[in-house]
Amino acid sequence: MAENGKVSKLSVGEKSVQMPILEGTLGPDVVDVRKLYGDAGVFTFDPGFTSTASCQSKITYIDGDEGVLLHRGYPIEELARHSDFEEVSYLLLYGELPNKEQRANFVRGITYHTMVHEQLREFFRGFRRDAHPMAVMCGVVGALSAFYHDSTDINDPHQRMVASYRLVAKMPTIAAMAYKYSAGQPFVYPRNDLNYAENFLHMMFAVPAEPYTPNPILARAMDRIFTLHADHEQNASTSTVRLAGSSGANPFACIAAGIACLWGPAHGGANEAVLLMLEEIGSKDRVAEYVKKAKNKDDPFRLMGFGHRVYKNYDPRAKVMQETCHEVLGALGKQDDPLLELAMELERIALEDDYFVEKKLYPNVDFYSGIILRAMGFPTSMFTVLFAVARTVGWVAQWNEMIEDPMQKIGRPRQLYMGAPQRAYVPIEDRK
Ligand code: SDX
Repeated sequence: MAENGKVSKLSVGEKSVQMPILEGTLGPDVVDVRKLYGDAGVFTFDPGFTSTASCQSKITYIDGDEGVLLHRGYPIEELARHSDFEEVSYLLLYGELPNKEQRANFVRGITYHTMVHEQLREFFRGFRRDAHPMAVMCGVVGALSAFYHDSTDINDPHQRMVASYRLVAKMPTIAAMAYKYSAGQPFVYPRNDLNYAENFLHMMFAVPAEPYTPNPILARAMDRIFTLHADHEQNASTSTVRLAGSSGANPFACIAAGIACLWGPAHGGANEAVLLMLEEIGSKDRVAEYVKKAKNKDDPFRLMGFGHRVYKNYDPRAKVMQETCHEVLGALGKQDDPLLELAMELERIALEDDYFVEKKLYPNVDFYSGIILRAMGFPTSMFTVLFAVARTVGWVAQWNEMIEDPMQKIGRPRQLYMGAPQRAYVPIEDRK
C-alpha cells in the first residue's frame, strides 16, 4: 500500500482535517480515516460496509463492474480450466503457484491430515439424525480445538500452519461424516490414494457393502466447484473469520464462526435456497409470477442466486458453473433436467427485465451450483456444507494474512447512537 501523495480534505464544523489517500495494486484508492475521530471527533457511518475497506490484502481481487475475479493475480476462469483445488489452495495460502516438489509436499501434507481423531465420531451422536448438516458442522468444527489443542497458539507460525492444514484436510471428512450420520450409514474413512475431490466423493457415497470408484467426470466437476468457491475477498463469512481471529481466538473457533455466517441464505445458504426456490416455482409458466414477486418492494421474496454486493456484471464463477452444469448433466444423461431448463428460463427472463437490468442483478456463483450438486446425488441440505468445505482454504489464508499483518488490531467498530439520553433510575413503585 502506498501513500500517493494525494490527500482527502474534510471540513467538520470549524475543523478541517486532511486524510492520506492510499493506493493499492488494483482497484479503488482508499481514504485512510484512522485518525478521523482523533482529529475531528466524528465517525464514518457505513452499515453493511458498502464503501469500507476493512484491511489490506494480497489474496483475492474482484472488479465487480468488469466481472473479474483474481486469486493472487490469476483469473478464476484460467484456474478453473487449467488448475485444480490442491494447487489453488497452495496458491491462496502461499501466494505463488507451486512447482512440482512444492505441490507434492503440500498434497502429502493435506492428505496425511484427512483423518479425524477417532473420538470425534462420538461427537456426532449428540445430534438428532435429522439435524441440518450445517448445524452439525458449526458444532463439530468448533469442537476441534478440544481435540487439536497443540495447534491453537496463533503466535506460533508452525502451529498456525498445522492448524491450517488440519482444517483444509479435515473439512471434507467432517462434512461427509455429517452426511453419513444423517443418512444412517457408517462413516467412511479417507483414502490416501485419492485426490481431494475424489476422496470427498468416496467418503460421501461409498458404502462398506461394495467397492466405490469415483466417476472421473464428477470428480473433476467437484474439484472445479471447490475451486470456484475457494475465496472471495472480504465477504461476510471471511470478515467474520477475520473479526473472530482479531481477538486472538483459536483457528478452529474462527472457522466455526465463518461456517455459521456462511449458512445465511443471503450468503452461502443461497445455493440451497436456489434449489428450494426452483422447486417452488415448479414450471416455466410460473417464472413470470416469481420475477414479479422479486420486484415487489412489499414482498420479502428475492430471486435466490441473483445479485451481488460487488458484482454489477455477470459473476465469472457463474459462467464456469453454468458450463460445468451442462457438462455434468450431459455426462449423467440428465441434460433434460427440468430444473436446469427452469433455471435457464428464469435467467433469460430476469436478464431481459428492466428491474434486474437497472439494478445490475446477474446470476451469482450460487445460481447453477445447486443444480449440479443435486444431479451428482447431494441432498439440498448439503449444498452449503460443500461451500464451507471449499471456502475453508480461503478463510485460513485470510486468517493467516490478518495475523501476520502489522496493522491488525482487534476489530471494534463504533456506532451512531440513537437511544435514550442519560436518565435517572425510576423505582418500580413509581412507574406507571
Ligand atoms: C454469496 O460477498 C460475497 O462475495 C459473497 C459470495 C462469496 O463468494 O463469498 O459471492 C457468495 O453470498 C453470493 C450471494 C448469494 N446470495 C443470494 O443469491 C441471495 C439473493 N441475493 C440478494 O439477497 C442480494 O443480491 C445480496 C445479498 C447478494 C446482495 O445484497 P446487497 O449488495 O446488499 O444489495 P441490496 O440488498 O442492497 O440490493 C440492491 C437492490 C435492492 O433494491 P432497492 O432497495 O435498491 O430498491 O437490488 C435489489 C434489492 O431489493 N435486489 C434484489 C435481489 N438482490 C438485490 N431484488 C430481487 N432479487 C434479488 N436477488
